[in-house]
Amino acid sequence: MNEIVHKSLPHDAAPLHVSGEARYIDDIPLPANTLHLAFGTSPVAKGVLKGLDLAKVRAAPGVVAVLLAQDLPFANDVSSAPVHDEPLLSTGTLNYLGQPVFLVAATSHLAARFAARQAVWDIEEGTPILTVDEALEANSYIEHPPLVWTKGDAGAAITAAPRRLEGRIEMGGQEHFYLESQAALAIPQEGGDMYVSSSTQHPTEIQHKVAEALGVPMHAVRVESRRMGGGFGGKESQGNPLAVACAVVARATGRPAKMRYDRDDDMQITGKRHDFRIDYTVGFDGTGRILGVDFRQYTRCGWSQDLSLAVADRAMLHADNAYLMEHIRIESHRLRTNMCSATAYRGFGGPQGIVGIERVVDHIAHELGMDPIEVRRVNYYADAPVGAVHGGSAPAPAAPPRGTSDKKMDLTSRGAAAAFPVEGEVVAGRGQTTPYGMDVFDFALHRMTERLLESADYAARKAAVAEWNAHNPVLKKGLGFAPVKFGISFTLSHLNQAGALVHVYQDGSVHLNHGGTEMGQGLFQKVAQVAASRFGIPLDMVKITATDTAKVPNTSATAASSGSDLNGMAVKAACDTIRDRIAGVVAALHQCATEEVSFEGGEVRAGGEAMPFAKAAMLAYEAQVSLSATGHYRTPDLSWDRIRGQGRAFYYFAHGAALSEVVIDTLTGEYRFLRTDILHDAGASLNPALDIGQVEGGYVQGAGWLTSEELVWDGKGRLRTHAPSTYKIPAVSDRPKVFNVDLWDEPNPSATIYRSKAVGEPPFVLGIAPFLALSDAIGACGAGYPALDAPATPERVLAAVRRMRDA
Ligand code: MTE
Ligand code: MOS
Repeated sequence: MNEIVHKSLPHDAAPLHVSGEARYIDDIPLPANTLHLAFGTSPVAKGVLKGLDLAKVRAAPGVVAVLLAQDLPFANDVSSAPVHDEPLLSTGTLNYLGQPVFLVAATSHLAARFAARQAVWDIEEGTPILTVDEALEANSYIEHPPLVWTKGDAGAAITAAPRRLEGRIEMGGQEHFYLESQAALAIPQEGGDMYVSSSTQHPTEIQHKVAEALGVPMHAVRVESRRMGGGFGGKESQGNPLAVACAVVARATGRPAKMRYDRDDDMQITGKRHDFRIDYTVGFDGTGRILGVDFRQYTRCGWSQDLSLAVADRAMLHADNAYLMEHIRIESHRLRTNMCSATAYRGFGGPQGIVGIERVVDHIAHELGMDPIEVRRVNYYADAPVGAVHGGSAPAPAAPPRGTSDKKMDLTSRGAAAAFPVEGEVVAGRGQTTPYGMDVFDFALHRMTERLLESADYAARKAAVAEWNAHNPVLKKGLGFAPVKFGISFTLSHLNQAGALVHVYQDGSVHLNHGGTEMGQGLFQKVAQVAASRFGIPLDMVKITATDTAKVPNTSATAASSGSDLNGMAVKAACDTIRDRIAGVVAALHQCATEEVSFEGGEVRAGGEAMPFAKAAMLAYEAQVSLSATGHYRTPDLSWDRIRGQGRAFYYFAHGAALSEVVIDTLTGEYRFLRTDILHDAGASLNPALDIGQVEGGYVQGAGWLTSEELVWDGKGRLRTHAPSTYKIPAVSDRPKVFNVDLWDEPNPSATIYRSKAVGEPPFVLGIAPFLALSDAIGACGAGYPALDAPATPERVLAAVRRMRDA
């Protein structure tokens, strides 16, 4: 049994995090002559620049250089999209309030920021396109015509259905609020080379963009990223302007250049989660079975393309969530508006699509007077058989772990506890397909729902809530349940690859590099566990190092929750190459077959004898055998056509379910989260402690999105909520008073690294449960359907209560 993977270990940098020793960009000691940068940004949401007087900017204290678009000798492009529609500095059109127009380099951060505000603008102001309706009216699209995917004939099925409903839900965007704001540091090297340190999920893209901006090959740029203080998707593309700005200033002045956004600037300049309006028409029968559904999704992408096409695609790809539907039509409008360019955010459109169908299910349940969980079960895909495997040949683990939120239990010993029968039955197509024609072969939500409802004592609590509401006119309680089925893979298929570089030194210590980045999610620790387990050595023999484009090239962003799936496999491949070489040396010594050499407990065993791993490494070195190797992995079997909306978009699905209980004050609209129970599927978890952390954090962030976090742009396109004083993220005190999180105990039927599952994004979706619970509590105030929009701020809750009571 493997002791190092499937083990609950703390985050590798936890001691550094809590002691303040962990280095973020702002902690890197700077060379003495480093310049500090700030952008001068557009004061209007739409306009044409007629003139720009920078005399006062240049004269401001400490200013060393001021750059405009015309001062950029090479590519003026920080776009992550193939359309290159995002210049580093505006070329004359002003597309949103906060758009970078000029760049100030000064001797201090404050001096640069102060100077950037001294510009005198001459602008011909236009009328910005801000709302969904304005964009539709003006035919303002990022992609046109709107994408439409269909399965069956939704129109006919809805018409023929015995019952029918129409509705609309609007959900807001979301600020990432990573604790470390965007930051980069560029240090010029000899011969025109550039070194960049960046807080980024995507070092290769930073390298690529910097190389283009400097007019040099990618080999002349090296990008390093040790860690981010949170990314959440906000550092997939939004770090490009800072890194490129630093590099061009460093090139122009010959001095190191550093840039970090203050919180207000970060919130105004950078993109956020896409907000959505979803209109639906659904036909169903008296049992709650959905017979046909039609979705119209509208999303505001902001002024440039960025990652919007893939985000909006993923919203469509999750319009079914956990439900088998034979007749469905999804229409997606990607609208161009004069706002910051909406970007990746945990779930990447998936949560928005799922909110759409969860609203539909909730609405149907209300209409039929049925328990919403029953309507869900009626419509669920069918479960795959227990213990099935799907494709691939990697063995399923004999004893996968069970996580637990019970902190009193010894998490580290849980690996061997729960024996799980693995029958090895290969699942063929079950004939149940998603709206995009993918076979759903690994569904588990019937089983998971059943276990969750039991452990959360649902039946009794439902009765207790009804009882409470019957006797309390002011405080009303509600319950909400949300399942998630989340597709794992990048939908741009070629991104599903990763590389690794592993060195074993003469003393048996291991230096580990891969293309993934660390943003707090614990990726480095999980991958180090994989490396340690391949060599059978203790974890402290493995050095986790910064992500570096000079060590592992051509990497994908650490995104789509795929970090451990992809990099874990690449590292495994590299380790196994070295392990086989060492085994060859040891086998020769013992006159045995290579396969008879084993690596366990810090030792290499063969021919009935054991030697320390370090000794074996030294022997290999002395035998002139290379102890360094690269590894590469690509996800197999994917085929996806986004225009037709057909194919196997995902390698597998991750599942989860949450039940939340809330109480609202019907006089003020304020509310409290009383209890949440979660059962989440991380496959055979590589590290249950870290995965539970991801589930807890994802859930709270998802709940924040749908409840308290409200972005407000005024009629001039000004973001009025650009600081924590006006933008309310969940605090520690906003976690549910009772919070039970458990991991599902079935290994991944698909052949992932040690049969684990991606866990970064899927639990975010479980934040729908408290949102539906709030709706349920409001529903207790009257007879109608609350049709709550998100975020369900206290103001919105109060207004909804009023509507219910006035009706
Ligand atoms: N967890 C922490 N602590 N910080 C983060 O920035 N980002 C999330 C998720 N969990 C994030 C996080 C997002 S958006 C993704 S895609 C995944 O982590 C990325 O990491 P993974 O692929 O290694 O799971
Ligand atoms: Mo996550 S939104 O895929 O970075």
